[in-house]
Amino acid sequence: MMTVIATYSSLGLAAKIAKVLADDVVLIEEKVFPDGERYVRVPQRLSGDIVLVHSTHPPQDSRIIELLLTIDALKGAGAERLIVVVPYLAYARQDKRFMEGEPISIGVLLRSIEVAGADVFVTVDIHRPGSLDEWLRIPHLNVLPVAQLAEYFRDRLREPLVLAPDKGALHRARIAAQILGADYDYLEKRRDRITGEVKVLPKSLNVKERDVLIIDDIVSTGGTLARAAESIVAVGGSRVYAACTHALLVSGALDRVYQAGIEEIVATDTVPSPVSRVSVAEPVARALMELLSQ
Ligand code: R5P
Repeated sequence: MMTVIATYSSLGLAAKIAKVLADDVVLIEEKVFPDGERYVRVPQRLSGDIVLVHSTHPPQDSRIIELLLTIDALKGAGAERLIVVVPYLAYARQDKRFMEGEPISIGVLLRSIEVAGADVFVTVDIHRPGSLDEWLRIPHLNVLPVAQLAEYFRDRLREPLVLAPDKGALHRARIAAQILGADYDYLEKRRDRITGEVKVLPKSLNVKERDVLIIDDIVSTGGTLARAAESIVAVGGSRVYAACTHALLVSGALDRVYQAGIEEIVATDTVPSPVSRVSVAEPVARALMELLSQ
């Protein structure tokens, strides 16, 4: 028996995870002081295994502070084993010093979560899974919801080709292609590290009379997806679909991807969004049950 703790950042997903686990949900009290500092409070005494579900999508910095404060509050309220589930983990893309003088942001974040009091850490489709091994000493797990995203498209695509927008994302395309009985490939992407501008290099692909499904971890501005879709249309592709785990959808991203010719984009509910049609509640709940039975 566990108790699932929800914050407002992930209330819907926490409730779904609790339903799968047949456990109770306790909602954290939250407020902001007039000077902008945040306050959280656990409304009851706790014991045993406690599962906190809290995503760190924008505004990520205040959600990160809430996460760290809530971890400390839960330990103080009696949590014996605290399993911290962060469905979307912010700052994961800054996983090395790309340029001299930069921080390794993901390292700072993961070490802070451990120091605050997490006993077990679970996340969903972290940008580079190796980051967890590099920075955490506590048990940890990365849940990959590619099968659930691929299932959404089962029987909806005509002779599908699954594409990763860059080589680093190829593992997602491979898994989705296996499930859909499709071919898979990747595009060559270049991002300007100063301006953030994305270019997708031309590639010859056999896309005539076929539907293309682009699969990625994050859609933020939608620039990557839009450039990828344009490169497919340029070689004769007609119907392009997209799936992603974390739909941050900032700066008019949805308009950008639809204008680039994407028919439909589907995401999971790690970040609540208008296209979050696939839930990670089942795979996360299964991972928790497995972890806790060890
Ligand atoms: C980058 O490596 C990620 O996997 C995503 O492709 C990227 O973060 C998407 O960002 P945007 O939507 O702003 O192009």
